[in-house]
Amino acid sequence: MPGFEVFGAEEKQQVLEVLDSGVLFRYEFAAQRKGRWKVLEFERAFADYTGTAYAQAVTSGTAALKVALAALGIGAGDEVITQGFTFVATWEAILDCGAIPVFTEVDLTLNMDPADLEKKITPRTRAIIPVHMMGAQARIEEIMAIANQHGIPVIEDTAQAAGAHLHGRHLGSFGAIGTFSFDSVKTITTGEGGMCITNDQRLWQRMSEYHDHGHDHVPNPGGRGGEGRSFIGFNYRMMEIQGAIGLAQLGKLDGIVAAQKRNKQFFQEAVSVLPEVEFREILDRDGDSSTFFTFFLPDKERAAAVNQVLLDHGAGAIRWSENGWYYYPNWEQLLQGKSYCHN
Ligand SMILES: Cc1ncc(COP(=O)(O)O)c(C=O)c1O
Repeated sequence: MPGFEVFGAEEKQQVLEVLDSGVLFRYEFAAQRKGRWKVLEFERAFADYTGTAYAQAVTSGTAALKVALAALGIGAGDEVITQGFTFVATWEAILDCGAIPVFTEVDLTLNMDPADLEKKITPRTRAIIPVHMMGAQARIEEIMAIANQHGIPVIEDTAQAAGAHLHGRHLGSFGAIGTFSFDSVKTITTGEGGMCITNDQRLWQRMSEYHDHGHDHVPNPGGRGGEGRSFIGFNYRMMEIQGAIGLAQLGKLDGIVAAQKRNKQFFQEAVSVLPEVEFREILDRDGDSSTFFTFFLPDKERAAAVNQVLLDHGAGAIRWSENGWYYYPNWEQLLQGKSYCHN
Protein backbone atom coordinates (compact mmCIF):
# COMPACT_ATOMS: atom_id res chain seq x y z
CA MET A 1 0.00 0.00 0.00
CA PRO A 2 2.17 2.86 -1.21
CA GLY A 3 1.69 6.29 0.32
CA PHE A 4 0.29 7.81 -2.88
CA GLU A 5 -2.89 5.78 -2.32
CA VAL A 6 -3.73 7.99 0.67
CA PHE A 7 -2.91 11.37 -0.86
CA GLY A 8 -5.59 13.79 0.29
CA ALA A 9 -6.36 17.23 1.68
CA GLU A 10 -3.25 17.20 3.93
CA GLU A 11 -0.77 16.83 1.03
CA LYS A 12 -2.66 19.45 -1.03
CA GLN A 13 -2.63 21.94 1.85
CA GLN A 14 1.08 21.41 2.43
CA VAL A 15 1.97 21.91 -1.24
CA LEU A 16 -0.21 25.01 -1.50
CA GLU A 17 1.60 26.57 1.45
CA VAL A 18 4.90 26.16 -0.41
CA LEU A 19 3.50 27.60 -3.64
CA ASP A 20 1.98 30.44 -1.66
CA SER A 21 5.43 31.44 -0.38
CA GLY A 22 7.05 30.89 -3.78
CA VAL A 23 10.18 29.43 -2.13
CA LEU A 24 11.15 26.00 -3.46
CA PHE A 25 14.71 26.03 -2.11
CA ARG A 26 15.23 24.53 1.34
CA TYR A 27 17.81 27.12 2.44
CA GLU A 28 17.84 30.91 2.59
CA PHE A 29 15.01 33.24 1.34
CA ALA A 30 14.01 33.84 4.98
CA ALA A 31 12.08 37.04 4.20
CA GLN A 32 9.78 35.42 1.60
CA ARG A 33 9.06 32.16 3.41
CA LYS A 34 6.30 33.24 5.78
CA GLY A 35 8.03 31.16 8.46
CA ARG A 36 7.85 27.94 6.44
CA TRP A 37 10.85 25.62 6.37
CA LYS A 38 9.24 22.42 5.11
CA VAL A 39 12.34 20.24 4.61
CA LEU A 40 13.73 21.29 7.99
CA GLU A 41 10.37 20.53 9.64
CA PHE A 42 10.20 17.17 7.88
CA GLU A 43 13.71 16.31 9.11
CA ARG A 44 12.82 17.21 12.68
CA ALA A 45 9.55 15.29 12.55
CA PHE A 46 11.25 12.23 11.03
CA ALA A 47 14.01 12.25 13.66
CA ASP A 48 11.35 12.49 16.41
CA TYR A 49 9.28 9.73 14.82
CA THR A 50 12.24 7.32 14.63
CA GLY A 51 13.58 8.29 18.06
CA THR A 52 16.87 9.60 16.72
CA ALA A 53 18.66 12.88 17.29
CA TYR A 54 19.29 14.00 13.69
CA ALA A 55 17.81 13.52 10.23
CA GLN A 56 19.19 14.66 6.88
CA ALA A 57 16.76 14.82 3.96
CA VAL A 58 18.15 14.02 0.49
CA THR A 59 16.88 13.45 -3.05
CA SER A 60 16.42 9.65 -2.99
CA GLY A 61 17.08 6.45 -1.07
CA THR A 62 20.07 5.87 -3.35
CA ALA A 63 21.41 9.34 -2.50
CA ALA A 64 20.84 8.59 1.21
CA LEU A 65 23.14 5.55 0.92
CA LYS A 66 25.75 7.58 -0.96
CA VAL A 67 25.64 10.44 1.56
CA ALA A 68 25.86 7.97 4.49
CA LEU A 69 28.87 6.21 2.94
CA ALA A 70 30.55 9.55 2.21
CA ALA A 71 30.01 10.70 5.82
CA LEU A 72 31.71 7.53 7.03
CA GLY A 73 34.67 8.31 4.78
CA ILE A 74 34.24 5.27 2.52
CA GLY A 75 36.39 5.53 -0.59
CA ALA A 76 38.46 3.80 -3.25
CA GLY A 77 39.41 0.22 -2.53
CA ASP A 78 37.41 -0.08 0.71
CA GLU A 79 35.20 -3.14 1.07
CA VAL A 80 31.56 -2.67 2.08
CA ILE A 81 29.52 -5.75 2.95
CA THR A 82 25.86 -5.95 2.01
CA GLN A 83 23.48 -8.78 1.14
CA GLY A 84 22.95 -10.58 -2.18
CA PHE A 85 19.20 -9.96 -2.02
CA THR A 86 18.59 -6.21 -2.12
CA PHE A 87 17.72 -3.52 -4.65
CA VAL A 88 20.60 -2.62 -6.98
CA ALA A 89 20.82 0.85 -5.36
CA THR A 90 22.59 -0.59 -2.32
CA TRP A 91 25.64 -1.73 -4.27
CA GLU A 92 25.41 1.08 -6.85
CA ALA A 93 26.03 3.55 -4.00
CA ILE A 94 29.01 1.49 -2.80
CA LEU A 95 30.52 1.41 -6.29
CA ASP A 96 29.84 5.12 -6.73
CA CYS A 97 32.20 5.78 -3.80
CA GLY A 98 34.89 3.73 -5.56
CA ALA A 99 34.44 0.99 -2.95
CA ILE A 100 33.96 -2.74 -3.51
CA PRO A 101 30.63 -4.42 -2.65
CA VAL A 102 30.95 -7.80 -0.93
CA PHE A 103 27.78 -9.89 -0.68
CA THR A 104 26.53 -12.15 2.10
CA GLU A 105 23.95 -14.89 1.90
CA VAL A 106 20.49 -14.22 3.29
CA ASP A 107 18.81 -16.55 5.79
CA LEU A 108 15.13 -17.32 6.33
CA THR A 109 14.51 -13.68 7.30
CA LEU A 110 15.48 -13.03 3.64
CA ASN A 111 17.97 -10.54 5.06
CA MET A 112 21.68 -10.66 5.94
CA ASP A 113 22.85 -13.94 7.45
CA PRO A 114 25.03 -12.97 10.47
CA ALA A 115 27.00 -16.23 10.29
CA ASP A 116 27.98 -15.46 6.69
CA LEU A 117 28.73 -11.84 7.60
CA GLU A 118 31.42 -13.05 10.02
CA LYS A 119 33.04 -15.00 7.18
CA LYS A 120 33.04 -12.01 4.80
CA ILE A 121 34.77 -9.52 7.13
CA THR A 122 38.38 -8.79 6.11
CA PRO A 123 40.94 -6.17 7.22
CA ARG A 124 39.64 -4.00 4.33
CA THR A 125 35.97 -4.01 5.49
CA ARG A 126 35.00 -0.40 6.24
CA ALA A 127 31.20 -0.61 6.54
CA ILE A 128 28.34 -3.12 6.69
CA ILE A 129 24.94 -2.45 5.08
CA PRO A 130 22.19 -4.85 6.16
CA VAL A 131 18.93 -4.23 4.32
CA HIS A 132 15.49 -4.56 5.94
CA MET A 133 13.92 -6.03 2.82
CA MET A 134 10.19 -6.01 2.18
CA GLY A 135 9.26 -4.16 5.35
CA ALA A 136 10.68 -6.63 7.89
CA GLN A 137 13.68 -6.83 10.17
CA ALA A 138 17.17 -8.03 9.40
CA ARG A 139 18.85 -9.65 12.44
CA ILE A 140 20.12 -6.19 13.28
CA GLU A 141 20.90 -6.90 16.95
CA GLU A 142 23.22 -9.78 16.02
CA ILE A 143 24.71 -7.80 13.13
CA MET A 144 25.41 -4.84 15.43
CA ALA A 145 27.12 -7.14 17.95
CA ILE A 146 29.43 -8.53 15.23
CA ALA A 147 30.09 -5.07 13.77
CA ASN A 148 30.88 -3.58 17.18
CA GLN A 149 33.23 -6.42 17.97
CA HIS A 150 35.19 -5.55 14.80
CA GLY A 151 34.78 -1.77 15.14
CA ILE A 152 33.00 -1.50 11.77
CA PRO A 153 30.16 1.04 11.29
CA VAL A 154 26.73 -0.15 10.14
CA ILE A 155 24.41 1.65 7.71
CA GLU A 156 20.89 0.19 7.79
CA ASP A 157 19.24 0.35 4.37
CA THR A 158 15.68 0.91 5.57
CA ALA A 159 14.36 2.04 2.16
CA GLN A 160 11.61 -0.59 2.25
CA ALA A 161 10.82 -0.51 5.97
CA ALA A 162 9.70 2.95 7.11
CA GLY A 163 7.52 2.56 10.18
CA ALA A 164 8.96 -0.87 11.12
CA HIS A 165 10.51 -1.77 14.51
CA LEU A 166 12.44 -4.49 16.23
CA HIS A 167 11.62 -5.01 19.91
CA GLY A 168 10.16 -1.52 20.14
CA ARG A 169 13.05 0.30 18.44
CA HIS A 170 12.67 1.82 14.97
CA LEU A 171 14.58 0.11 12.17
CA GLY A 172 17.23 2.50 10.93
CA SER A 173 18.07 3.64 14.47
CA PHE A 174 20.36 0.72 15.43
CA GLY A 175 23.33 1.46 13.17
CA ALA A 176 25.56 4.53 12.86
CA ILE A 177 23.21 5.75 10.11
CA GLY A 178 19.81 4.54 8.83
CA THR A 179 18.71 5.38 5.28
CA PHE A 180 15.17 5.62 3.87
CA SER A 181 13.55 6.04 0.45
CA PHE A 182 10.42 8.05 -0.32
CA ASP A 183 10.29 7.21 -4.01
CA SER A 184 6.97 6.98 -5.78
CA VAL A 185 6.06 3.43 -4.65
CA LYS A 186 7.30 3.52 -1.06
CA THR A 187 5.22 3.28 2.14
CA ILE A 188 5.40 7.05 2.39
CA THR A 189 6.36 9.02 -0.69
CA THR A 190 7.54 12.45 -1.72
CA GLY A 191 7.69 11.43 -5.39
CA GLU A 192 11.46 11.14 -5.13
CA GLY A 193 13.27 11.59 -1.84
CA GLY A 194 15.22 10.01 0.96
CA MET A 195 16.39 10.48 4.55
CA CYS A 196 19.42 9.62 6.66
CA ILE A 197 19.00 9.34 10.45
CA THR A 198 21.71 9.22 13.09
CA ASN A 199 22.38 9.88 16.77
CA ASP A 200 25.88 11.10 15.99
CA GLN A 201 26.12 14.88 15.69
CA ARG A 202 29.44 14.69 13.82
CA LEU A 203 28.04 12.26 11.23
CA TRP A 204 24.95 14.44 10.76
CA GLN A 205 27.16 17.48 10.19
CA ARG A 206 29.20 15.64 7.57
CA MET A 207 26.02 14.44 5.80
CA SER A 208 24.56 17.94 5.92
CA GLU A 209 27.71 19.42 4.38
CA TYR A 210 28.34 16.66 1.83
CA HIS A 211 24.79 16.71 0.45
CA ASP A 212 25.07 20.46 -0.29
CA HIS A 213 28.47 21.00 -1.96
CA GLY A 214 30.26 21.11 1.39
CA HIS A 215 28.30 24.10 2.72
CA ASP A 216 28.35 24.43 6.50
CA HIS A 217 24.78 24.69 7.87
CA VAL A 218 25.61 24.64 11.55
CA PRO A 219 26.04 28.34 12.42
CA ASN A 220 22.81 29.18 10.63
CA PRO A 221 20.46 26.23 10.11
CA GLY A 222 18.26 28.13 7.65
CA GLY A 223 21.19 29.47 5.71
CA ARG A 224 24.35 28.21 4.14
CA GLY A 225 27.52 29.01 6.00
CA GLY A 226 29.95 30.59 3.63
CA GLU A 227 32.62 29.99 6.26
CA GLY A 228 34.71 27.75 4.07
CA ARG A 229 34.34 24.08 3.23
CA SER A 230 35.84 21.06 4.98
CA PHE A 231 35.66 18.75 1.96
CA ILE A 232 34.30 18.34 -1.57
CA GLY A 233 30.57 17.67 -1.63
CA PHE A 234 27.78 17.16 -4.13
CA ASN A 235 24.15 18.19 -4.58
CA TYR A 236 21.55 15.86 -3.09
CA ARG A 237 19.25 18.59 -1.69
CA MET A 238 15.54 17.91 -1.15
CA MET A 239 13.04 20.56 -2.37
CA GLU A 240 10.48 22.34 -0.18
CA ILE A 241 7.57 20.71 -2.05
CA GLN A 242 8.97 17.27 -1.26
CA GLY A 243 9.46 18.23 2.40
CA ALA A 244 5.87 19.48 2.54
CA ILE A 245 4.45 16.24 1.07
CA GLY A 246 6.71 14.28 3.42
CA LEU A 247 5.23 16.05 6.45
CA ALA A 248 1.70 15.10 5.40
CA GLN A 249 2.72 11.52 4.58
CA LEU A 250 4.62 11.03 7.84
CA GLY A 251 1.43 11.88 9.70
CA LYS A 252 -0.22 8.93 7.93
CA LEU A 253 2.59 6.38 8.27
CA ASP A 254 1.27 4.51 11.32
CA GLY A 255 -2.18 4.28 9.73
CA ILE A 256 -0.70 2.92 6.49
CA VAL A 257 1.29 0.29 8.41
CA ALA A 258 -1.83 -0.74 10.37
CA ALA A 259 -3.74 -1.22 7.08
CA GLN A 260 -0.83 -3.22 5.63
CA LYS A 261 -0.84 -5.49 8.68
CA ARG A 262 -4.54 -6.23 8.21
CA ASN A 263 -4.02 -6.95 4.49
CA LYS A 264 -1.06 -9.21 5.20
CA GLN A 265 -3.02 -11.17 7.80
CA PHE A 266 -5.76 -11.73 5.22
CA PHE A 267 -3.27 -13.05 2.62
CA GLN A 268 -1.45 -15.17 5.19
CA GLU A 269 -4.65 -16.97 6.15
CA ALA A 270 -5.63 -17.50 2.49
CA VAL A 271 -2.21 -18.86 1.45
CA SER A 272 -1.81 -21.09 4.54
CA VAL A 273 -4.14 -23.65 2.94
CA LEU A 274 -1.60 -24.41 0.18
CA PRO A 275 0.14 -27.74 0.77
CA GLU A 276 3.86 -27.47 1.65
CA VAL A 277 3.81 -23.68 1.79
CA GLU A 278 6.41 -22.06 4.08
CA PHE A 279 6.75 -18.50 5.29
CA ARG A 280 9.58 -16.09 5.69
CA GLU A 281 10.87 -15.81 9.27
CA ILE A 282 9.66 -12.57 10.86
CA LEU A 283 11.65 -11.68 13.99
CA ASP A 284 9.01 -9.41 15.53
CA ARG A 285 5.49 -9.50 14.11
CA ASP A 286 4.40 -6.35 15.95
CA GLY A 287 7.26 -4.44 14.35
CA ASP A 288 6.77 -5.79 10.81
CA SER A 289 5.58 -2.95 8.57
CA SER A 290 3.97 -5.67 6.40
CA THR A 291 4.79 -3.93 3.14
CA PHE A 292 5.11 -7.31 1.41
CA PHE A 293 3.75 -10.78 2.03
CA THR A 294 6.26 -13.47 1.08
CA PHE A 295 5.94 -17.26 0.93
CA PHE A 296 7.96 -20.19 -0.37
CA LEU A 297 6.77 -23.16 -2.44
CA PRO A 298 8.81 -26.35 -2.89
CA ASP A 299 9.81 -25.81 -6.53
CA LYS A 300 9.59 -23.27 -9.33
CA GLU A 301 6.87 -25.17 -11.22
CA ARG A 302 4.56 -24.92 -8.19
CA ALA A 303 5.49 -21.26 -7.74
CA ALA A 304 4.68 -20.55 -11.40
CA ALA A 305 1.36 -22.42 -11.18
CA VAL A 306 0.25 -20.56 -8.04
CA ASN A 307 1.33 -17.26 -9.55
CA GLN A 308 -0.71 -18.00 -12.67
CA VAL A 309 -3.84 -18.38 -10.51
CA LEU A 310 -3.00 -15.10 -8.77
CA LEU A 311 -2.42 -13.39 -12.14
CA ASP A 312 -5.74 -14.72 -13.45
CA HIS A 313 -7.39 -13.00 -10.48
CA GLY A 314 -5.56 -9.70 -10.97
CA ALA A 315 -3.05 -10.13 -8.10
CA GLY A 316 0.15 -11.48 -9.65
CA ALA A 317 3.08 -11.97 -7.27
CA ILE A 318 6.72 -11.06 -7.76
CA ARG A 319 8.94 -14.12 -8.12
CA TRP A 320 12.07 -12.74 -6.53
CA SER A 321 14.40 -15.39 -7.96
CA GLU A 322 13.56 -14.20 -11.48
CA ASN A 323 13.56 -10.49 -10.75
CA GLY A 324 16.44 -8.57 -12.30
CA TRP A 325 16.60 -5.74 -9.77
CA TYR A 326 16.87 -7.52 -6.45
CA TYR A 327 18.72 -10.81 -6.70
CA TYR A 328 22.48 -11.31 -7.09
CA PRO A 329 22.53 -13.97 -9.90
CA ASN A 330 20.40 -11.66 -12.07
CA TRP A 331 22.58 -8.53 -11.78
CA GLU A 332 24.28 -9.12 -15.13
CA GLN A 333 25.50 -5.53 -15.39
CA LEU A 334 27.42 -6.02 -12.14
CA LEU A 335 28.52 -9.58 -12.82
CA GLN A 336 29.87 -8.53 -16.23
CA GLY A 337 31.48 -5.39 -14.81
CA LYS A 338 29.67 -3.08 -17.23
CA SER A 339 29.86 0.59 -16.28
CA TYR A 340 28.83 3.46 -18.57
CA CYS A 341 32.45 3.88 -19.51
CA HIS A 342 35.21 1.33 -20.25
CA ASN A 343 32.64 -1.22 -21.41
C1 LIG B 1 16.50 -1.70 -0.52
C2 LIG B 1 16.50 -0.43 -1.30
N1 LIG B 1 17.53 0.43 -1.15
C3 LIG B 1 17.58 1.60 -1.81
C4 LIG B 1 16.57 1.96 -2.68
C5 LIG B 1 16.71 3.22 -3.47
O1 LIG B 1 15.71 4.15 -3.23
P1 LIG B 1 15.35 5.26 -4.32
O2 LIG B 1 14.48 4.62 -5.34
O3 LIG B 1 14.63 6.31 -3.54
O4 LIG B 1 16.63 5.77 -4.87
C6 LIG B 1 15.48 1.12 -2.87
C7 LIG B 1 14.38 1.48 -3.80
O5 LIG B 1 13.55 0.69 -4.16
C8 LIG B 1 15.43 -0.10 -2.16
O6 LIG B 1 14.42 -0.97 -2.31
